Amino acid sequence: MIAQTLSETKAPASEQPIFELIEVEQVFEVPKPGRSLFSRETVGLRALDGVRLTVRKGTSLAVVGESGSGKSTLLRVLLGLDRPTGGRALYHSKPILEGRASGIAFARDVAMVYQDARGSLDPRMTIGALIAEPLRHFDIVPRQDEAARVAQLLDRVGLPADAADRYPSGLSGGQVRRVAIARALASEPSVLVADEAVSGLDVSTQAQLLILLQSLQRDMGLTLIFITHDLGVASFLCEEIAIMYLGRIVETGPTDAVLGAPSHPYSAALRAAAPQFFEPLSEPLPGEIPSPLNLPAGCRFSTRCPKAQDDCRLKDPQLGKLGPQRAVACLHPLQPQ
Ligand SMILES: Nc1ncnc2c1ncn2[C@@H]1O[C@H](COP(=O)(O)OP(=O)(O)O)[C@@H](O)[C@H]1O
Ligand code: SF4
Ligand SMILES: [Mg+2]
Repeated sequence: MIAQTLSETKAPASEQPIFELIEVEQVFEVPKPGRSLFSRETVGLRALDGVRLTVRKGTSLAVVGESGSGKSTLLRVLLGLDRPTGGRALYHSKPILEGRASGIAFARDVAMVYQDARGSLDPRMTIGALIAEPLRHFDIVPRQDEAARVAQLLDRVGLPADAADRYPSGLSGGQVRRVAIARALASEPSVLVADEAVSGLDVSTQAQLLILLQSLQRDMGLTLIFITHDLGVASFLCEEIAIMYLGRIVETGPTDAVLGAPSHPYSAALRAAAPQFFEPLSEPLPGEIPSPLNLPAGCRFSTRCPKAQDDCRLKDPQLGKLGPQRAVACLHPLQPQ
């Protein structure tokens, strides 16, 4: 479950979150737009700006937002691949980077399914060797049991045993994603993180993979963090949702509650723009997402918000509690209909 605001009070051990992000910032120094050819002038791009998030054990969390909202940057912080430039990013109450640096436990426990599944697999290796690689790296089973474990993992992700002898080039896009999931499961992780793991596939393959991920999450008690720009995917797969806009989480809570009655005008706009059967398409959100190099004054959504009022251009709303399970970063949250 996602906590709404991050209090400093200690929760009981069983309730201790796996991940906690407290006012996390990630500022990239990028070349100043319009600088002369010989200038080295840079400017800070705020890819993450005051991100608050708690991920509890066993939950399934969708992180949703338009392209450029900071989803992949957030993921890199969660995986300990990048050090945030501000705030605290914790894994079991310790800095994520400390956990990552202290040995293989973090890498074993937190597994990743990459967006470009095919690109993450060495085309010269058989599927069997690719799945055996993490088994060996993490010393999961004795060598003599490796083939049997590979077969088990193939079966778990719905691939035939003879797939072990094939090469990635001989597999379809959906099968390649299954191999990537099998590789991620090989280290027996408790957290599975996936970045757009089903995007770019046809609808029926997407549905099969979503059903697979759902059954893995339930049967193995995995904590699932799923990055997607697709609300349909989020609502099918994830109990909890975090909606991002321009580097900040602007609404969190149970997926059904948030999508059923959004509180943030941005969540409402995303919800309204999602195609629905038998209903006419609603107006898309006006304008484009502003550049993070040029964040609007006050609320970052104020340039596109149909509910904006005068104070919205003066105050920058932080994510704050809205009832026991939800949180929103808006000065004038929508009332449930
Ligand atoms: N390494 C980087 N250097 C400079 N800018 C970056 C870098 N990574 C991401 N960004 C910028 O940060 C913002 C968020 O990017 P990203 O996290 O990839 O968004 P999303 O995954 O939601 O599409 C974008 O404006 C992107 O251009
Ligand atoms: S704070 Fe104002 S501009 Fe921002 S989302 Fe809420 S109503 Fe819209
Ligand atoms: Mg991305």
